[in-house]
Amino acid sequence: MEIGYFNGKFISLEDAVIPIDERGHQFGDGVYEVIRVYNGKPFMMDEHLQRLIKSAEAIKLPLTDGIEELRSLINEGITKAGLADCSVYLQVTRGIAARLHLFPDVPVSISMTIRPAKALPIEMREKGANAIILEDERWSNCYIKSLNLLPNILAKQIASEADCFEAILVRDGVVTEGTSSNVFYVKDQNIYTAPLTRHILPGITRIVVKEISKALYIPFNEEHFAPGKLTQADEVFITSTTSEVLPIVKIDGQAIGTGEPGEITTRIYEQFQAKLIE
Ligand SMILES: Cc1ncc(COP(=O)(O)O)c(C=O)c1O
Repeated sequence: MEIGYFNGKFISLEDAVIPIDERGHQFGDGVYEVIRVYNGKPFMMDEHLQRLIKSAEAIKLPLTDGIEELRSLINEGITKAGLADCSVYLQVTRGIAARLHLFPDVPVSISMTIRPAKALPIEMREKGANAIILEDERWSNCYIKSLNLLPNILAKQIASEADCFEAILVRDGVVTEGTSSNVFYVKDQNIYTAPLTRHILPGITRIVVKEISKALYIPFNEEHFAPGKLTQADEVFITSTTSEVLPIVKIDGQAIGTGEPGEITTRIYEQFQAKLIE
């Protein structure tokens, strides 16, 4: 069963519970995480919660709950939902106060939704997805998982209208990441991805892919690269909590490599799947 949570109470997703003066609603003044649950177990939960705490600190949000409290809240929600394979979205905002930009002296709000995980279409998983390249119009602090997602939403919509699954973003001539994913390419048996700067989100799936590359003895290079590297690559893939490891086979209408999911991407995805049942 899908369920929600808002400030101390588990609720139905249809319940109207957000007060009009909630700052997440009025300003997007908060941070969030999404955690995938496989077979009843949240995957990489500690890493997600650590990132949430870092995001909260970065926007000076006084998160009094630590990892242990948040972990038990999420586990309680998963048990209540009774869903073995689900996605947990957890939002923390600067609370409920009459509208004023300045920080109010009120407790933070914590909300959560738990829904069955949405699998990508099998055809996309097997044949790969298409992407387009767009200018990265976001702010300079993309390492914070902020609730402000307007530029991401606009870019994703442009991608969708161009029959693409993802928009790959370029800032100052170099690829940063996707609207909701990290971006990788393979050239001559090496993996390349953008380094962790304030312009990209330090993806949790990216950590897993880095570990897998090490285990498979595939060199993992973190360096800035121009979008042209992607169209000349042998393989391209993106990663995220919800799409896992997904091959990109066409960018701006141009086939990547053979135009089919590549060997290294496939090996990484297989190893990723193996980790889920460890
Ligand atoms: C902008 C952005 N980059 C990267 C990612 C991938 O991060 P993760 O692997 O932690 O889901 C996401 C995930 O939603 C994202 O929104």
